[in-house]
Amino acid sequence: MSEAVAGEPVVAAEVHSPGQLIAHEIMEREKQYLLQNYGRYPLALDRGKGCYVYDFDGRRYLDLLSGIGVNALGHGHPRIVKAIREQSAKMIHCSNLYYNEYQGRLAERLCRISHLDRAFFCNSGAEAMEGAIKMVRAHGRSISPEKYEIISLENSFHGRTIGAISVTGQPKYRKDFEPLLPGVKFVPVRDDRALASAVNDRTAGIILEVIQGEGGGHPICERMLHAARREADRVDALLVFDEIQCGVGRAGFFFAYQQFNPEVLPDVMVTAKPLGVGIPLGVVVANQKGAAAIKTGMHGTTFGGGPLACHVALETLDIIAEMLPSIRQRGDYFRSQLNDLCSKFEFVREVRARGLMLGIDLKMPGKAFVTDAMAEGLLINCTHDTVLRFLPPFIITEKEIDSAVRILRKLFKKGNGYYKEYLKEQKAAAAASQ
Ligand SMILES: Cc1ncc(COP(=O)(O)O)c(C=O)c1O
Repeated sequence: MSEAVAGEPVVAAEVHSPGQLIAHEIMEREKQYLLQNYGRYPLALDRGKGCYVYDFDGRRYLDLLSGIGVNALGHGHPRIVKAIREQSAKMIHCSNLYYNEYQGRLAERLCRISHLDRAFFCNSGAEAMEGAIKMVRAHGRSISPEKYEIISLENSFHGRTIGAISVTGQPKYRKDFEPLLPGVKFVPVRDDRALASAVNDRTAGIILEVIQGEGGGHPICERMLHAARREADRVDALLVFDEIQCGVGRAGFFFAYQQFNPEVLPDVMVTAKPLGVGIPLGVVVANQKGAAAIKTGMHGTTFGGGPLACHVALETLDIIAEMLPSIRQRGDYFRSQLNDLCSKFEFVREVRARGLMLGIDLKMPGKAFVTDAMAEGLLINCTHDTVLRFLPPFIITEKEIDSAVRILRKLFKKGNGYYKEYLKEQKAAAAASQ
């Protein structure tokens, strides 16, 4: 997992069944041979079908997280299986020394739907963000060597590479790796005045997530988007939208910036997660101005844009194009069910939702709900300590949403006890500090 649970201790599984024995062996081997950078949940998964995943005992879990927003079409979608089967038999990879049939077709499709002009393919969200940062730097440098500053938002998350953490506005991701890229400034999420005063002639780019995912599902307001567009134009900087989590249909539009009318267009947009529905694929899409910054030899990658990944992504976009109305409808349904549920519990601060990107912000840490949910056969996660996050597959049905909400109701009843405990602890801590 690229975010959220990294660093937490692994809990050893109890071994009572053949499946648990297999899981236990898997966990022990990983404990010995893998970098201990992930704090995984004590669950080993064997297979998936539709919106469900199964452990080694065949126990079923309703997957409301879809591999952190990747498995948007669920598991084993027949059209995706067919595309993978056919393409993998024909050709998986050929490098960027040669042309393949699908890279240009996918670029054309992405340019049409994003209203931008040129694409560069890579393998992950962070790598796409690196490409965008290089584009911003090269654009600035083509104007002046002093023009290298980047403005980003507090609470943002842009990935784990050095460039991506340099523009990530959460100290916990940055602190162990400093010094990072120089010239990055962070401004509050909804403060267009702070943005305007941070931007100057040295600004080469402004980077933001249209909906902050890992930061807790906060949508950027339309005013801030317009301000970012205006400020970027004022100083000839590139405006970059990170649509890695909120893009490719997740918010009920191909890209989350398309929910506004008129649309606020970026110069550069990066996306990844569901684009290859599990086949690693990231992309930087830019207008002519952004694209002109990268000339032959300035950037590249061995794997990006291979025929398998691009063929699968074309199929994915075809399927998602048919699904956009239903993503919005299911998202509205899920939100209304969550609102109804949450109105009855004092420990809920707020429900946040855009399409099928939903979160429940709690007045206490939410980690216990994640393990309780797992025990009930429901996969969710908790981001930013207090936000229960749901990124369900786009194929989720109302019936499946109802069953998830039924489980959440049961957990929240137990949560009343957690909240009482939490308040008691807070009170004791406050008394001790006086
Ligand atoms: C908004 C955003 N940007 C960038 C990334 C990094 O993507 P990846 O983990 O594919 O490198 C993520 C991953 O969660 C993300 O949510």
